[in-house]
Amino acid sequence: MAETWVNPRGRSADEGTLPGQAAGTDLHLPLSGEGSLRSRLMHALREAIRSGRLAPGTRLPPYRSLASDLGIARNTVAGAYAELVEEGWLTARQGSGTRVARRASPLPPDQARRPRRPARRRILHDLMPSSPDAAAFPRSAWLSSARRAVAAAPNDAFSVGDPRGRTELRGTLTEYLARARGVRAAPDRIVICSGFAHGLELLSSVLKGPVAVESYGLDFHRSIIGKAGLRSVPLTVDSYGARVDELPDTGAGAVLLTPAHQFPTGGPLHPERRAAVIDWARSSGGLLVEDDYDGEFRYDRQPVGAVQGLDPDRVVYIGSTSKSLSPALRLGWMVLPGWLVDDILAAKGPREMWSGVVDQLTLADFIACGAYDRHLRRMRQHYQRRRDLLVSTLAATAPHIEVSGIAAGLHAVLELPENTEEAALRAARRHGLALDGLHPYRHPDSTMPPRDGLVIGYGTPPDHAFTAALDALSLALPGPPLDDRCTAFP
Ligand SMILES: Cc1ncc(COP(=O)(O)O)c(C=O)c1O
Repeated sequence: MAETWVNPRGRSADEGTLPGQAAGTDLHLPLSGEGSLRSRLMHALREAIRSGRLAPGTRLPPYRSLASDLGIARNTVAGAYAELVEEGWLTARQGSGTRVARRASPLPPDQARRPRRPARRRILHDLMPSSPDAAAFPRSAWLSSARRAVAAAPNDAFSVGDPRGRTELRGTLTEYLARARGVRAAPDRIVICSGFAHGLELLSSVLKGPVAVESYGLDFHRSIIGKAGLRSVPLTVDSYGARVDELPDTGAGAVLLTPAHQFPTGGPLHPERRAAVIDWARSSGGLLVEDDYDGEFRYDRQPVGAVQGLDPDRVVYIGSTSKSLSPALRLGWMVLPGWLVDDILAAKGPREMWSGVVDQLTLADFIACGAYDRHLRRMRQHYQRRRDLLVSTLAATAPHIEVSGIAAGLHAVLELPENTEEAALRAARRHGLALDGLHPYRHPDSTMPPRDGLVIGYGTPPDHAFTAALDALSLALPGPPLDDRCTAFP
C-alpha cells in the first residue's frame, strides 16, 4: 500500500464540518515508508496538519470510514487518533468527533526557515485600471438566465463543444453587436473566445509579419504578439489617437488599435484616421484588429461605433465581457472576415477547450432577454457618477492636475509634470493606493517622448469605499508648482 486518497462519504454538513468548511474532506494520505501502519498513519496526519492541508478545526473521518478507505484495521486508526490527541495535534470530544486541534497550525517547515521579509504595504484602495466594480455583478439576473438557458438547452449542448461557440450565443451577438456597436456580423463569422487576450493569441498564431500597435498600450498584449514570433512596431499616439499614416513605413501586415477609447490615454480615433486605416488595409491587404474592450461605456455623447462596420473584410473585431460584466467570466467574441474563419478555427482546434457551455448559453439568454442592456445602462450611470466625482474632487483638491480621457471607459489619466511619475507612485503606495503610471504602457521601441502620468481606474472600489479612495488620491498627488503657490508674495 503506497498512498491513498480518502474521501469520507455520506457525511452531512452539520455532522461533518464546522461553519465555513466543505462538507467532505478529500485527504491525501501517503502511507509509504518504514515502520508500523499506525506510525505511518500518524506521520501522514501530522504532515497534513503541518502543511495546512488539514486546517485547525477540521473534523476527521470516523475510525470506521477511514479504516475502510485505507484498507487497514479500525484499531490502527483508533490508536493513531488517540496518540495524536495526546500529542496535542487532535482533539476528541463526545458528540463532536475527532478534530484537528485549534492550536495545531505550525508553519510549514520551509516557511519557518525563510527569513522574514519586510511587511508589504497594505493596499487600501484599488485604483488599478483593470477591473469593473465586482460588487455590481448582476448575480440574480445572471442566475435567472443560467436557469432558463440550462433548462432549455438541447442535450447535445452538454456534449463536446463546437470551437465556433454555441449557435445561440453567436446568433444573439450578431443582432446585439449590429444594434449596439454598428458591427456587421453573421453567426458563421463569429468565433467565441475566452476574452480579448485569447482572441489576440489565436489571431497572432495565424498572422505573418510585424504587427503595428499603439505606442501606449498593454504590455501583456505586446507579449502575446511577441510569443507568437511576431514583432510589434509602435505607432505614435496623439490626441486624435494612433498615427495610422505611419503604417506604410512599418512593414506591418496588421495593426492592433483601440479605436473607441485609446488604452490607456483615452481618446477616440479621429474619424479621418478611422477612414485612413481602412484605406491602408484595402490598399495593402492589411488587417485591422479592433479591440473594443469598453465601447459600451461612453458618457458624453452617443457611443462611438466600431470601425469594423466600414469594412468587415478588413477588420477583426474583438469584444469581451471583461469590462461590461466581469473579467473572471473569460468570455469574448471575434467577428472575423469570412476568409479568416477557417484559419482561426484550425488554430483553435477541433473542440471547444476554453469557453464553458453554461456561460455561453447564459450570456445568450442574458442578452436576448434585455438584461445585458439594462445592466449596461445602470453601469453607465454608475461609472459616470464616479467619473464626475473623481473630476470634481480633483478640481477642488488638485486643480493644477489635468484629467484626460474621461469621455468613456472606466479609467482616466492624470497628467503629471515631467519626471514626477515615479515619486507620485511612491506617494500613492504610502497612502495605500494601488494604481498605475503611464510608463509601463509605453512601447519600448517608441520614439515618442515619455509622458508622465497616473492611470486611475475608477471602476474597482466598492461604492462605500470610493470617496475614501479619492481622498487618499488627493493626498498622494504632487502639489502645485512653486510659482503657482507664491503669487501673493512677490
Ligand atoms: C486594452 C484592453 N483590451 C482588452 C481588455 C479585455 O481583455 P480580456 O477580455 O482578455 O480580459 C482589457 C481589459 O479588460 C483592456 O484593458
